[in-house]
Amino acid sequence: MDKIMSIEGITKSFGGIKAVDNVSFFVKKGEIKALIGPNGAGKTTLFNIITKLYSKDSGKVFFMGKDTENYKSYELVKYGISRTFQNIQLIDDMSILENVMLGYHIKTKTTAIDAFFSLPKNKKQEDKAKEKAMETLKFLKIDSISDKYPNEIPFGYKRLVEIARALCVQPELLLLDEPAAGLNESETNKLLKTIFRIWEQGISILLIEHDMNLVMNCSHSIVVMDEGRKIAEGLPSYIQNDERVLKAYFGK
Ligand SMILES: Nc1ncnc2c1ncn2[C@@H]1O[C@H](COP(=O)(O)OP(=O)(O)O)[C@@H](O)[C@H]1O
Ligand SMILES: [Mg+2]
Repeated sequence: MDKIMSIEGITKSFGGIKAVDNVSFFVKKGEIKALIGPNGAGKTTLFNIITKLYSKDSGKVFFMGKDTENYKSYELVKYGISRTFQNIQLIDDMSILENVMLGYHIKTKTTAIDAFFSLPKNKKQEDKAKEKAMETLKFLKIDSISDKYPNEIPFGYKRLVEIARALCVQPELLLLDEPAAGLNESETNKLLKTIFRIWEQGISILLIEHDMNLVMNCSHSIVVMDEGRKIAEGLPSYIQNDERVLKAYFGK
């Protein structure tokens, strides 16, 4: 069995609070794994540690068998990891296409000086980024809004644009932080199909999500966190009936 990512004993405190407390699990290559738990459980903090936005107090993250200790946040796309944010991060005065292209620019090696003098190499990379971004918008069936600006599109589309930006770099592992938050039922059903189509492309997915229907319908396995700790892990059918999980969600 191939592990694409292995989380080993990750711990992170903020002041006196252990946001993530000795959490270990792995994501198999080619699986959709869900990371669930009540608000404040430490899920987003774990994503921020994986993607190097936060330092950790202890533990290790291995990606494709390699220790990611010295990876930098801006290099992750190069290694094959990309993510979306729980709070959608779109830039208001850039078009949808340009917003998606931002994802690709992290991958291109153009230096600031290249960009400044607009060297041919830069133009080529710009064209490539544009092509990839457009391709991704088409794949997500939102290419019709490529020229629009974030404040001109409905919320549900913004979530898809956020996914497009993470997807256009063709990651090996996609981290989705609450992609269904704020979506209505029909949008959530469409999102479920979209997640499957992404997965069919061979991309492994780690999904933070509160919508239990979505989680139960799309994940191969689930890890549950509460108050920083991993409290359960297993198949959806098992997690659904786990005492600790029911208590974490409904028992307080
Ligand atoms: N940058 C930060 N500074 C201080 N506390 C934080 C920070 N980020 C998260 N926390 C705290 O860590 C805990 C876990 O938060 P978070 O990872 O956002 O949970 P979840 O995504 O599961 O809802 C919470 O108590 C939260 O207040
Ligand atoms: Mg969160």
